Order: sequence, then C-alpha cells, then structure tokens
Amino acid sequence: MSQDRVIIFDTTLRDGEQSPGASMTREEKLRIAKALEKLRVDVIEAGFAIASPGDFEAVKSIADTIKDSTVCSLARAVDADIDRAAEALVNANSGRIHTFIATSPIHMQHKLRLQPDQVIEQAVHAIKRARNLCADVEFSCEDGGRSEIDFLCRIIERAIDAGARTINIPDTVGYAIPHQFAETIRQIIERVPNADKAIFSVHCHNDLGLAVANSLAAVTAGARQVECTINGLGERAGNASLEEIVMAIKTRQDILGVQTGIVTEHILSTSRLVSSITGFPVQPNKAIVGANAFAHESGIHQDGVLKHRETYEIMSAQSVGWHANRLSLGKLSGRNAFRTRLQELGIELTDQDELNAAFARFKELADKKHEIFDEDLQALVSDTVTDVVERMRLVFLDVTSRTGETPVAKVTVEVDGVEQQASASGSGPVDAAFRAVEQVANSGATLQLYSVNAITEGTDSQGEVTVRLEKGGRIVNGNGADTDIVIASAKAYINALNLMHSGAHKAHPQVEGI
Ligand code: KIV
Ligand code: ZN
Repeated sequence: MSQDRVIIFDTTLRDGEQSPGASMTREEKLRIAKALEKLRVDVIEAGFAIASPGDFEAVKSIADTIKDSTVCSLARAVDADIDRAAEALVNANSGRIHTFIATSPIHMQHKLRLQPDQVIEQAVHAIKRARNLCADVEFSCEDGGRSEIDFLCRIIERAIDAGARTINIPDTVGYAIPHQFAETIRQIIERVPNADKAIFSVHCHNDLGLAVANSLAAVTAGARQVECTINGLGERAGNASLEEIVMAIKTRQDILGVQTGIVTEHILSTSRLVSSITGFPVQPNKAIVGANAFAHESGIHQDGVLKHRETYEIMSAQSVGWHANRLSLGKLSGRNAFRTRLQELGIELTDQDELNAAFARFKELADKKHEIFDEDLQALVSDTVTDVVERMRLVFLDVTSRTGETPVAKVTVEVDGVEQQASASGSGPVDAAFRAVEQVANSGATLQLYSVNAITEGTDSQGEVTVRLEKGGRIVNGNGADTDIVIASAKAYINALNLMHSGAHKAHPQVEGI
C-alpha cells in the first residue's frame, strides 16, 4: 500500500455497539457490514467473538459473506479469546485478529494487577498465538493515550517482533489533545527500531470532543490507519466519526496529503442505515450527515451559493450522497422491483416468508404514502425483518385524544401466541399507549429515552421512534416506524420488550478483565 494511503478501519459493529442500548442483531450487523463493504471500508471490525454466542455468530456470518474488506474480530490477550476469534474468522477471504492489553500505569496496576514486564509477556504470547492462527494480527495498547512513552516503545517493539503488523494506539478515555497526541505518535514511530515493519494506527474516543482532531493530528505524524465509526457511534461519547475523518482527508488534501479508498457517495446512506438500525438519531447540525449540513438559511449565503457554490460550500452535497435520486418505488411497483431495490440497498431477503411480509408492509405503506424513498425501505425492513424472537406483537391500537380530555389507549397485544387486551389513560396519546402495553407486559422496565424522527420530508413521512428501556442494568433500544407516530411508538416499545426478553449476556471487552 502506498505511503499516502490511510487505511479506514471501521468499528461501528464492535465499539459502536458498545454505545449503551445500541446492540444489533446478527442480521442487522450483516446488513451494516454489506453497506460498509460497498463504502469500501478497508477493515470491518465485526465484533468481539468471545463476548457471546450471538457475537460469535455475527462475526462468523460477516466473515463468511464479506469479500472485499478485511473482517476483524477483537480478542483480549488471552488464549480463549484468540482461539474464538480465529474460529469465527475461519472462512474469511481476508481476516484479522485484533488483540489488546492495557498499557497505562493506572490500568496495569488497578485493573490488570500485573507488572509492566508481565504485560509485555502476555502481549507477546497472545500475538504469537494469534499469528499461528491468522496471518494478519493487530495489537492495541489499551489506554495508550495515558501510557508512558518509554513503556509504549518497549511493548510495541516486542509486539512487532512477535508478528503484529498493525500497531494501534487507542486514546481509550478521550484524554489526548491534538498536538500532544501527534507528538506521541511521531516519537513512537521514530524511536521503535522495527517501526518500519508495521502500520501505525489510532483509535480515538470523543470524551472531550477531540476524537476526529486527534486522529487527523496522528495522521500528520505518520499514522496510516484510523479506527472510526459511522456517525461517531461508540462507548460513552463515541469514537472518531468515519464520515468526518474521510471528508477532512478528501477536502484538505492540500494540508494532509493523504487519501482513503472510501466511495464517499455512499456515506449518507450508510449513516442512515446505522441510525435506523441502532435507533441513534443523527443531530441536525452533525457535520457531513446532519440534515442541516448543506442547508443554507441566511439570504446572503443562499445568494452566494446560487451564484457560485464554492462561496459557502467546501465540499458538494452530492459527494457524500445528498440529493442522490432517493425516490425509490411507488404504489404500482411490483415484487421484483421491490426485491431489486432492496438488493441495491444491500438488503438480501432470501427467506420467502420475510420477503412476503416485507412486500405486504410495503404495499400497506404505499397506500398511505405517495412516494416511497430508500429511507422508508430501510425502516420498513428493520421493522418487519428481525432475527429477535418476537414474543410480543402489536395487533390493534385505538387511542382517543381530544383537546381538554385525558387520552385513553386500548391495545391488543399477542404474547406467546395468545391475544391480550388492556386499556390505560396517560398524559398524552403515547404515554397512554405505553401504559396500556405495560399492563399486558408487566415488564417493570424503566423508560430512559423516547425519540421520534421523521424519516423523510413532508407530513406524510413515516415517524421512526426509538424507545430505550432499562432493567437491572441492562439497556435496550427498540425501534418502530409508521406513518402514525403513536403506532410507531407502541411498536418501538414492544420491540424493546422483545429485545429485553431475548437478550443473552454479553461480555464487555474492557470490563470483564483478564
Ligand atoms: O478504546 C479502546 O481502547 C478500544 C480497544 C479495545 C482498541 O476499543
Ligand atoms: Zn474504543
């Protein structure tokens, strides 16, 4: 790979999934992985194979399917993790094991309770084991942003000798400041004697809002892989956002002098897919993919753009996928057109029942809504096709809501195949609907977040609702879409209850320590 090429390593499916409530099903992860492949991401971190049987299956099915991107699994620096990662990647066209251990004094002393030399030995052992199972091994110095540079140089030299070909310096807690982080990366590359045998990578968290700035600063210091996520999703305040990194590199070639292989025109559709699947809406003023990112409000700006676009735009909206012809299908479109458009969006419905259910739902939607856009299709598939066991299903909802009167909701919900009815009043129609569903479910979960987003423009748009529920420390995000936002809300609530019910325990890479 040429010296000026930056490898884009996407960790939406692993670190992104560590956002509270952002867990995805295997089928959803596969859909995102296909979109990432189409975007021409170099490396897809598909998950943490040992975390749970579900994670293993997700990594495996992505490794079995994706051909053009390298597929990677995270593994702590322990034998069982590495073996499980290798097992999940066995059929990958190009697979990578990403192993890590903490290197900061605070983590080594309080979390690992190991001496620095023991940490080095454990890392070397893990890398050698991984190299015996997979030719492509990445090693990460967890909490690298707070690690001592002398120790980093020591462990990295040994890691490269043991066979790691990518060395990642994560700013795990988002503590770094751009010029200081760049200096750390520069010094490591200068001081590690065998640095020429590895590609240096960074993985920045956004606790101080500096993840993208730190990543770009590291690129100027010689890093040639950046780990990032779509929409900046990730643990706590998130990771560096892929779209911002990629567009900064593309737009400021003059300063940065490097390139990525990303097909930027697919950025917006991938962002929307991730948002719709995870239920994490994109803020309107988010760079690149926010609804206002290319909207000019002030008259002076509008006038300038009309006369000469570059007066107020540093990149074109088209270059990231805005204003692409998003009109997808209409009322008269048939099953073939429906299936073909889904395929073009990277959605493969091989199961006939799933295709029939999605098509029926499309026809229902087309009756209510004149024009069906790609975003509608994505929401529709998320809503209809799921590999979560649907223990509960909304059968009927009737809500009365009048000025000056308390809204009342009546619901029929199917639970384990048996229909149950309930009614409740609430402060608004959504509150009444949730209370009625809760009467049937009796889940005891607490509502942490409720959000509604219009999927497309116009008052006939579908509302996409996210409901975040918490119970016993477990958090799930349920989604639902419908042209009626009260129905969308009830569906989202029920979806969250189904997720809560079906969820298996999952290990967290940085908590369940070695
Ligand atoms: O933030 C971090 O340190 C990580 C590592 C596991 C790479 O996510
Ligand atoms: Zn991370």
